Amino acid sequence: MGRRVLVTGGAGYVGSHIAVELARAGHALVVLDNFVNSSPAALDALRRLTGQSLPLVAADVRDRAALKALFARHAIDAVVHCAGLKAIREGEAKPLAYYDSNVGGAIALVDAMTAAGVKTLVFSSSATVYGQPDANPVSEDAPLQPGSVYGRTKRTVELLLEDTARSDRQWRVALLRYFNPAGAHPSGEIGEAPSSAAENLVPILAEVAAGRRQEIEVYGDDYPTADGTGVRDYIHVADLAEGHVAALAHLARQPGVTVLNLGMGRGCSVLEVIAAFERACGRQLRRRVVARRPGDVAMYYADPARANALLGWRARRDLDAICVDAWRWTGRR
Ligand SMILES: NC(=O)c1ccc[n+]([C@@H]2O[C@H](COP(=O)([O-])OP(=O)(O)OC[C@H]3O[C@@H](n4cnc5c(N)ncnc54)[C@H](O)[C@@H]3O)[C@@H](O)[C@H]2O)c1
Repeated sequence: MGRRVLVTGGAGYVGSHIAVELARAGHALVVLDNFVNSSPAALDALRRLTGQSLPLVAADVRDRAALKALFARHAIDAVVHCAGLKAIREGEAKPLAYYDSNVGGAIALVDAMTAAGVKTLVFSSSATVYGQPDANPVSEDAPLQPGSVYGRTKRTVELLLEDTARSDRQWRVALLRYFNPAGAHPSGEIGEAPSSAAENLVPILAEVAAGRRQEIEVYGDDYPTADGTGVRDYIHVADLAEGHVAALAHLARQPGVTVLNLGMGRGCSVLEVIAAFERACGRQLRRRVVARRPGDVAMYYADPARANALLGWRARRDLDAICVDAWRWTGRR
């Protein structure tokens, strides 16, 4: 049965795709966003894609008065919490801003949810909570050793949600640890549109292909991987979004905290991604090998077996689909 779901950060990259899939599954949506890293234009696209009027609360998730008014106005059943800051390097330079937004935002939200009696929450966590993995694939039981401020804010929110659920057995919480979301909606209507320069490989490749950037810098080709470049688990953002719909259905059956990796379960090297993007855009892309970035990990990819088993979900779209959809989105902008 359709429920009314609040998506915080719903104008952003992942949140907008989640909103589309939730609407497709029959849920009614409310979006909260402060547009620090997105634009209201995403809401217009979302309204077209979902066919819903999509009430928008243009507010910061730390704004307690706005949250109180939101829960009083809309009969929310569940929340998907995507709002937050996510740039790893910026987090190192501005730790307080990251703790304030990510941890402060979660505290304000959980407080408002508790007051409103809404106790179902899906949280956008991240594989960065694992830090440098001891082994691959990375399962949910792997050691948690986040190596960045950003990763530590994510782990702190996980801990506060686990403690909240322990204090009150009515809570139903999914901690979804995303690997590397990439790609865009196949319609070309929504995709990654950060306010500042792209930091992730696929959007950078799209910028090179579109002539907005000269070349792609490959950070190191001397890692102990098959071709020497870093290996990551790229998951199509539409698959990721479907995982949230499945997680919400799971929480209806299962109280307490469920921790899940959302990834393909396969690693792709930087050179493999470049080759896939070249197939998608039909031209060769200039690349230059530069030094490794401090703190970068040679390889990590998910063990998604728990999500496969508990949710009946698996990532279905491959690297070529990711690149084709990312390129279509970039070409439209
Ligand atoms: N994209 C990734 O690579 C990735 C990987 C793992 C986890 N995540 C997590 O998933 C979530 C969504 O990521 P994304 O890639 O869509 O990022 P995004 O920046 O595109 O989306 C986040 C959205 O939240 C909004 N926002 C930020 N701070 C806010 C605040 N204080 N109040 C209200 N709105 C706020 C932004 O304007 C934006 O629309 C984030 O929590 C991120 O940490 C992302």
